[in-house]
Amino acid sequence: MASENIIEEKKQGQALITEQKGSNSKLLYIESFGCQMNLNDSEIVASILAEEGFNTTPHLEDADLVLVNTCSIREKAEQTIRKRLQKYNRVKRINPNMKIGVLGCMAERLKTKFLEEEKMIDLVVGPDAYRDLPNLVKEVENGKDAINVILSKEETYGDVSPVRLNSNGVSAFVSITRGCDNMCTFCVVPFTRGRERSRDPQSIIKEAQDLWDKGYKEITLLGQNVDSYLWYGGGLKKDLKNASEIAQTTAIDFANLLEMTATILPKMRIRFATSNPQDMSVDVLYSMARYDNICKYIHLPVQTGSTRMLGRMNRQHTREEYIELIDKIHEILPDCAISQDMIVGFCGETEDDHKDTLSLMEYVKYDFGFMFAYSERPGTPAAKRMEDDVPLEIKKRRLSEIINLQQKHGLYRMQKFVGKTVEILIEGNSKKSDAQWMGRNSQNAVAVFPKGNEKIGDLVMVKIEDCTSATLIGTRV
Ligand code: SAH
Ligand code: F3S
Repeated sequence: MASENIIEEKKQGQALITEQKGSNSKLLYIESFGCQMNLNDSEIVASILAEEGFNTTPHLEDADLVLVNTCSIREKAEQTIRKRLQKYNRVKRINPNMKIGVLGCMAERLKTKFLEEEKMIDLVVGPDAYRDLPNLVKEVENGKDAINVILSKEETYGDVSPVRLNSNGVSAFVSITRGCDNMCTFCVVPFTRGRERSRDPQSIIKEAQDLWDKGYKEITLLGQNVDSYLWYGGGLKKDLKNASEIAQTTAIDFANLLEMTATILPKMRIRFATSNPQDMSVDVLYSMARYDNICKYIHLPVQTGSTRMLGRMNRQHTREEYIELIDKIHEILPDCAISQDMIVGFCGETEDDHKDTLSLMEYVKYDFGFMFAYSERPGTPAAKRMEDDVPLEIKKRRLSEIINLQQKHGLYRMQKFVGKTVEILIEGNSKKSDAQWMGRNSQNAVAVFPKGNEKIGDLVMVKIEDCTSATLIGTRV
């Protein structure tokens, strides 16, 4: 059985709700699939539509407008969403006034094809076009289909204050960049989310401050590649002609942004995701070391342990450079947890390449991991130029090998906390028992412990007495 820290693709979408308001408003049912960025985007969409009088509802059957924020990262994700659309369709047959819209990456990838293929869909909106939703929804209400999938070089929704959906009131996402310029050959994201843009740091700090004022205790700064964050006044940084031009401006990079946030909100726990090995700088590691409130956890996807495959994937570093970075992290941040994303069975992957992945995992002994079998995505450089030639059976076997190894390493890392006292931010009840709290330590390990007189959002010291590969088990000290 896969441990909890291993994402499996069967994970369902999340229906997102917030507090109910007046009864004469229109009702929005919004569901989100895929990454944290999508969840945050759904919060932006809910905020934009709240201005138009939409309140969210947890009941699909009651909705005037149903929106699904979609994911294209693997074929299976798209299939799950297609099935979900069938469910909406059945409800729409009973309630023909209900309108259905698709948002996010599938909307961007399929564009008008979506309207042709799925007749129940009224609305198709790409990730950079959510500001147009009020107009598009009006068109739909007038009985027309509506679509906007224009990608932007500027849009960051910096001034939109997200409506927090399904929130535990403790942790929230704050997006700092949108899009991705990296062009990993397997990845659809650069096509569905467009060019990379950084958000104005002032608006990031304002949002973080606002969250603190509302009682939130932890934020996660989000981007496809946070280390590439660079603010010098807006637009695409790659439009600047050269590095010296950037240096002449009062640019703010990710290390600066982290320090600003950590200084202005000294009690807020700060996390970030995702780091890309090619862009992660030593400065970021030193910033993490300087501030206790920056959590000691780095999600550092590598995808494969084979330099040859890294090249085919167009990742901009070798195995050796990645190992150097891992060594630096251990040197500067000895107690830092590290996690990976891995893809098995990418085009041309041999048994030797796979062994390189296993041996890299043995070297790093990741705390957590998110592992996938390669899924060809139409339009990507790999789909155009390479053959998806590793048979499914082999992909599956390699995947289970790395999942098993990750589980062993997860347990090894968790065991290191046994006997230690760690600081836990309480997020809510434990899944298994209401008599226990669940929270996380700085390294993002989940801990459970018996309830005393603490409350959600408290930071407490917990002595760890036992663990599984996914959970620390302790008591309050
Ligand atoms: N930089 C991004 C990566 C987004 S995709 C981030 O913020 O996490 C998340 C992970 O999905 C990737 O790291 C990769 O491991 C996996 N992935 C992407 N495209 C894939 C594909 N075509 N097949 C299988 N896995 C894929
Ligand atoms: Fe995808 Fe590579 Fe960007 S995995 S999101 S193209 S860093």
